Amino acid sequence: MQIILDTKSFATLEADALVTYLFDESDPVLGRIAELDKLSGGLLARLAKSGEITGKNLEFTLVHAPAGLKTARLLLVGAGKRDQFNPGSLRKVAGAALRYLKSRSVHKVALLLHESELNEYAAQSVTEGVLAADFESDKYKTDKKNDKFIEAFAIAGFTDAQKSAGEKGISRGRSIAEAQNFARDLVNEPSNKLTPRILAAKAEAMAKEAGLSVEILDEKRIADLKMGALLSVAQGGPEPPRMIVVTYTPATPKPGAPVIGLVGKAVTFDTRGISIKPSEGMEKMKYDMAGGATMLGVMRALAALKPSVKVICVVPATENMPGGTAQKPGDIQTAMSGKTIEVLNTDAEGRLILADGVHYAKQLGATHLVDAATLTGAIVVALANVNVGVFGSDQAWTDKLLASAKAAGEKMWQMPLDDEYREFIKGSFADIQNIGSGKGGGAITGAMFIKEFAGDTPWIHLDIAGTAWNDDAKPWLAKGPTGVALRTLVQLVTSL
Ligand code: BES
Ligand code: MN
Ligand code: ZN
Repeated sequence: MQIILDTKSFATLEADALVTYLFDESDPVLGRIAELDKLSGGLLARLAKSGEITGKNLEFTLVHAPAGLKTARLLLVGAGKRDQFNPGSLRKVAGAALRYLKSRSVHKVALLLHESELNEYAAQSVTEGVLAADFESDKYKTDKKNDKFIEAFAIAGFTDAQKSAGEKGISRGRSIAEAQNFARDLVNEPSNKLTPRILAAKAEAMAKEAGLSVEILDEKRIADLKMGALLSVAQGGPEPPRMIVVTYTPATPKPGAPVIGLVGKAVTFDTRGISIKPSEGMEKMKYDMAGGATMLGVMRALAALKPSVKVICVVPATENMPGGTAQKPGDIQTAMSGKTIEVLNTDAEGRLILADGVHYAKQLGATHLVDAATLTGAIVVALANVNVGVFGSDQAWTDKLLASAKAAGEKMWQMPLDDEYREFIKGSFADIQNIGSGKGGGAITGAMFIKEFAGDTPWIHLDIAGTAWNDDAKPWLAKGPTGVALRTLVQLVTSL
C-alpha cells in the first residue's frame, strides 16, 4: 500500500473516500468538520442535529456523493472525547477507517487531519495505524479476497511548509509498522511451518537483508556452552533448538554508552511437556514464540532507524514436547550460569529458556536487559488482554520503558517484585525451582525466576501472554497476532 502526503486543498482531493474524524462534544461541527459542513451546504450540521453523528468512539457514518467535494464518499469517524484524544486514538481511528473501507472494496483513500495534528508524530501514528490495520492473517487461504485492498492512502491537510515533517513521520511509521507486521507474520506461522530451525533461518535472512550481524547457535554449540536449561526443554522432541543472536552496532559507538540486550521467548509450540493439560485451545500455543518474534521485529526496525546505542537480540528457540526423552517433573537441570533448577512443572518452560538467554545476553556485553515472553496464564488473570505486565529490577530503567510505552500508545502496567516472592521459588533439592510453592502470584514468580539470571544488571520482563494475540478481530486490527511491545521497545531504544 502506497502512503503519501497530499498538500492539495481537501475540496479538490480525488479519492474513492475522504475520511475525517470528529469529537464527542456538545457541538461536534467544529474546525475541520465545520469547513466540510460549509462545503456540503450544512449537511454535517443536519446529521449532528438529528443525532446521526455524535463523535462517539469509532462510530462510522458514510456519506455518498457528498456535495462540494470531489470524492465519491465521505467517511466520518467518531474519535471520542477531545481531551482523551492522543496519538494512540489517531492510530486506531486511521486503522479502523482503513478496515471499514477495505471491506467495502474502496481502493483510494484520503485521511484529512485536523489543524492540531499536522506534525511528524501524527503522520507517523496514521502510517502505523493503517499499515498494521491492512495486515491480514490469510497467508494460507487459497481463496483470498482479491477485490478487497487499499491501493493508495493519502494523508491530507498539510501545507507545503509542513510537508517534510509529515513525510519524515510517514517514513518512520513505515519502518516500525513493517517490522511489526514481520513479527506478526512469524507468530501466525503454525508450528509445522515454523520450527526453531526455520525461525533461525528467517531471522538470518531478515538480518542479512537489513544489514545486521547474525549468529545462529546450533544444538552442538548450545551444548558446548552448557545451556542446560534450554536443552532440557528441547530434549522432549526431535526438533533441535537454536539460539538466535542478532546484533545492531551503531556507526559511531559512544564509549560508556549502554548496551541493550533484548531477549525473546520463542517456544515454537508449547504442548506443555510431560505436565500436559487438556487439549482445549492448544492450537493457540503456536504463538508461544511471540516474544522472540517481537524482538526480531524490533531489530528489523532499528536497522532502518539507526539509533546511537548497540543492541544485542538473543532468542532461544525450541519446541516443548512430551516425548519419551522429555524431562520429567522433579528433574534437576544446570543452567548456563551454573545455577541448578528443579523442574517441578515442565509447562513452566519459558522461564527455563530465558534463564540461558538472559545469561548469554549479559555474557555478550548487555548492560541493560529487556525480555518479552508469553510467560504465564496468570498475567491473563491479572490484566486480561488489555495491559502488558511489566516487571523491573531497576526503577529508573523501568520508568524509561513505561514512558516509552506511553509515547508509543501501548498499554503496560507495572507489577511488583518484592523480595518476599523470592521465597516462592527457593528450591528444596536444587538452588531454585521453576514454579512457585506459595499460593497465587503466578506471573510474579515467573518473573522472579528470570530475575535470578539477570542478577545486578538492570532488567525488565514483559509478560505478553494476554496481549500478543487477539482472539477476536478489532475494528483496527485483524484477529490473531498483535505485535505488541514492538513499538514501545523501538521507542525505548531510539530515545536513549
Ligand atoms: N506459554 C505458557 C503461558 C500461557 C498460558 C500463555 C496460557 C497463554 C495462555 C507458559 O509456558 C506456561 O505454560 N505457563 C504456565 C506456568 C505454570 C505452570 C507455573 C501457566 O501459566 O500455566
Ligand atoms: Mn508452558
Ligand atoms: Zn510456554
